[in-house]
Amino acid sequence: MIANNPVAIAVLQCPNCSKEYDIQQVQSYATCCNQPLVTRFDDLNITKADILTNDDSMWRYRAFLPLFEDDNVVSLGEGWTKILSLTKLAQKHNINSLLLKDESTNPTGSFKARGISMAVSKAKELGINHCVIPTAGNAGGALAAYCAKADIGATVLMPAHTAETLKEECRLFGAELILVDGLIDACGKLARQLSTEKGYFDMSTLKEPYRLEGKKTIGLEIAEQLDWELPDVIIYPTGGGTGLIGMWKAFRELQAVGWLTGKLPRMVIVQTENCAPMMHHFHHRNIEDFKPRASLALGLAVPYPFATDLMLQVIEESKGTVRTVSEQDLLEGIKLVASEEGYLLSPEGSATYMAFRKLLNEQWIGEEENVMLFNTGSWYKYR
Ligand SMILES: Cc1ncc(COP(=O)(O)O)c(C=O)c1O
Repeated sequence: MIANNPVAIAVLQCPNCSKEYDIQQVQSYATCCNQPLVTRFDDLNITKADILTNDDSMWRYRAFLPLFEDDNVVSLGEGWTKILSLTKLAQKHNINSLLLKDESTNPTGSFKARGISMAVSKAKELGINHCVIPTAGNAGGALAAYCAKADIGATVLMPAHTAETLKEECRLFGAELILVDGLIDACGKLARQLSTEKGYFDMSTLKEPYRLEGKKTIGLEIAEQLDWELPDVIIYPTGGGTGLIGMWKAFRELQAVGWLTGKLPRMVIVQTENCAPMMHHFHHRNIEDFKPRASLALGLAVPYPFATDLMLQVIEESKGTVRTVSEQDLLEGIKLVASEEGYLLSPEGSATYMAFRKLLNEQWIGEEENVMLFNTGSWYKYR
């Protein structure tokens, strides 16, 4: 059940120069400064009673989401995922608490369902009839599923080396699937071309304003599930950055409504050694020296993310950091967590555990701290 929400006061804004874009119209990104467009709520006049506690999906936070009409919600039951306690590993590493936000139980098996549920709802509201998406795999499957539900056409552009299951689900959902040689940046180029030539709406990460709002619900949810006290550190497997930026946006909005009063977590970006553009940016290294390669962690192989500035801002504001893990680490992490805790992590989820171990060894994380890892996808889809 979805109640009315006070969204009329939302505006779309360039995060760099604050130029506003008409929220009633179809928008992509802030062309003024070549930045993502961010939804700003001027007057979040929300109380805790506005959380729809009888709705166990991300739409319980309807009041924080910029959709005008309830009828336009396209939902497959995404969100309100569990936070698991990795008690044996916490004991082994002698850390206060080690939590895992398990996003693999979302529809289509990944956290991408959240952003895509919101974006497809907005596409429906704005009368868009065909979407195109470049994807490392999971976002494509999610778009195909939500577009099927909404009767919107979907074209999915995916690297040819992607696991078979991720391709097959797109076909089953009735999307047009185009395989591309290269990484997601090559798919992105083709998406722009199809958008110009055929008028498809481009759903590329952060070149569309509303996937971010859907991902924001992860942050709202963590706060509510932990009774409005956040962990000291959140370790997040980062590709395009929607989850990281979305969570931080959620925490800021919760501060604005006065529900979060304690300190915010230090946010950690994890990438793989094979493709770590954020490591280059974080250390001000010359991006020319950066040679991206494919990774087992498909979702982290995003060589040239559009939202670099916003990601760096989250790291700076939260006093966070960036770490990388190797391909060998990804395999080892899956085994270690599975054999200790009985949870199978996606390679991206494994990256967060292996980064945690590094940060603990370096004493960047202290034993008295509470740490949250993320399993963003389902191991079962990587076959
Ligand atoms: C399983 C998984 N984890 C993490 C990511 C990175 O997502 P984000 O865009 O939020 O950085 C992706 C993106 O494809 C993914 O599929």
